[in-house]
Amino acid sequence: MSSFQIIVGSMLGGTEYVAEACEEQLNTLNHEVNLHLKPNFSSILKCTLEQKTNNVSTWLICTSTHGAGDFPDNIQPFIEDLKNCEQDLSTIDFMIIAVGDSSYDTFCKAGFELNKLLITKGCSNTLAIKTLDMSQDIDPEELAQLWLSQNKDLL
Ligand SMILES: Cc1cc2nc3c(=O)[nH]c(=O)nc-3n(C[C@H](O)[C@H](O)[C@H](O)COP(=O)(O)O)c2cc1C
Repeated sequence: MSSFQIIVGSMLGGTEYVAEACEEQLNTLNHEVNLHLKPNFSSILKCTLEQKTNNVSTWLICTSTHGAGDFPDNIQPFIEDLKNCEQDLSTIDFMIIAVGDSSYDTFCKAGFELNKLLITKGCSNTLAIKTLDMSQDIDPEELAQLWLSQNKDLL
C-alpha cells in the first residue's frame, strides 16, 4: 500500500471530478489517499514527509490550464511556494494528470510546466504525464481511472 496526496488545480470544477475519480480508483487499489481541493504547500509537504517514513508517498497532481496557458487560481499559491521552496524534495515521487483543450495552442501548458518545475526541484515522476483533452475525450473520469489501473503495478 502507498499513500497519495491528490493536489487539484481547477477553475470551473471539471478537474475536481477527475481527481475524485482518481481518489475512488486509488482506494479500490487499496492505497491511502488525501484529496486537496485547496492545496496548501506546507501542510502537504509535512504530511508527505511524515508518511514517507512509513511507506511510499506520492503526489498526484490533477490540474487544468486556464487563461493563456496559466494555472488555475486555486493552485497558484501552491506553485509559488513550490518555486520558492529551498528544502530537499528529492524523496518525493509525483504523477500529473493535465486537463486541457487541444483547440488552444497552450494545450495543457500548466501541467507540462509543473512537470518541469518538479523535476528541477529533484522530484521523480513515477509515470509520464497523462493529458486529457476535453474537446475529444468523452469520459475523462473513466480515462483517468483506466490510466491508474493499467499502471497499478508501478504505483
Ligand atoms: C478562459 C479559458 C481559458 C482556457 N485556456 C486553456 C489553455 O490555455 N490551454 C488548455 O489546454 N485549455 C484551456 N482551457 C480549457 C480548460 O482547461 C478546460 O475547459 C478544462 O476542462 C477546465 O477544467 P476545470 O473545469 O477544472 O477548470 C481554457 C478554458 C477557458 C474557459
